[in-house]
Amino acid sequence: MITVKNLTKCYPVGDTSFQVLKGIDLEIAQGEFVAVMGPSGSGKSTFLNLLGGLDTPDSGEVLIEGNPIHDLQERQRTLFRRKHVGFVFQNYQLLPTMTVEENIAFPMEAEGLPKAVIAETVASLVKAVHLQGKEGNFPSQLSGGQQQRVSIARALSMKPRLILADEPTGNLDRRTGTEILDLLLSLQKNEQLTIIMVTHDVFSASYADRIILLKDGVIETDIKQKEGDHHDVLASILAQLNA
Ligand SMILES: Nc1ncnc2c1ncn2[C@@H]1O[C@H](COP(=O)(O)OP(=O)(O)OP(=O)(O)O)[C@@H](O)[C@H]1O
Ligand SMILES: [Mg+2]
Repeated sequence: MITVKNLTKCYPVGDTSFQVLKGIDLEIAQGEFVAVMGPSGSGKSTFLNLLGGLDTPDSGEVLIEGNPIHDLQERQRTLFRRKHVGFVFQNYQLLPTMTVEENIAFPMEAEGLPKAVIAETVASLVKAVHLQGKEGNFPSQLSGGQQQRVSIARALSMKPRLILADEPTGNLDRRTGTEILDLLLSLQKNEQLTIIMVTHDVFSASYADRIILLKDGVIETDIKQKEGDHHDVLASILAQLNA
């Protein structure tokens, strides 16, 4: 599904530059749920943005289902992203002047899909994320968890096979966060979506099949969890995060 080869990225800082990613190599299979962890500033968001074509690397490759994202011009990248990648952010990034329905419809409107298709898709997504009755609400009239469910519905509207989520439960309490994680998990299990989720939180990471730890610009640890070994894997990740 995703192949990353020797990916590097640095940002200018004054006269010098700061190397955030120093050569990331990774393969992610269709249908995997991957948690990306690491200290603050370790480049998790940078990495996710490169995976989804929101930003371009300095060198290296990102292939999504064989498509070289790193090689696309900005316009092609935007088109690819809109069709193939669903983004979910910590702060939801909903459009404040649009209703729930309009926010969910937005990517499909941008793509110029027929009105009837849009209406039908919006209705089924509203149901899927349990927001019936809130269709006409503006984001300011929703709880944090409800706003995140709108953003997930919007991410799903173009039927992507890949969801990239940057701390999707970061602004939510444990109970609401758990609802969002359960929703992501059900999308993985029922729709075979590939999910890559950045998180600080070991509880959230426990939902993933695989945990990747970014540190000092490289992947320091890459662990696949099997049924039953969550506890040991998480204890080891916690120890490394605190080291
Ligand atoms: N546009 C930018 N210009 C300059 N430096 C940047 C830019 N974006 C990120 N950085 C720097 O790159 C490093 C990695 O940032 P990034 O946001 O990817 O970290 P992160 O792991 O997501 O951190 P957090 O857990 O706090 O969200 C940081 O040191 C940050 O200051
Ligand atoms: Mg971040």
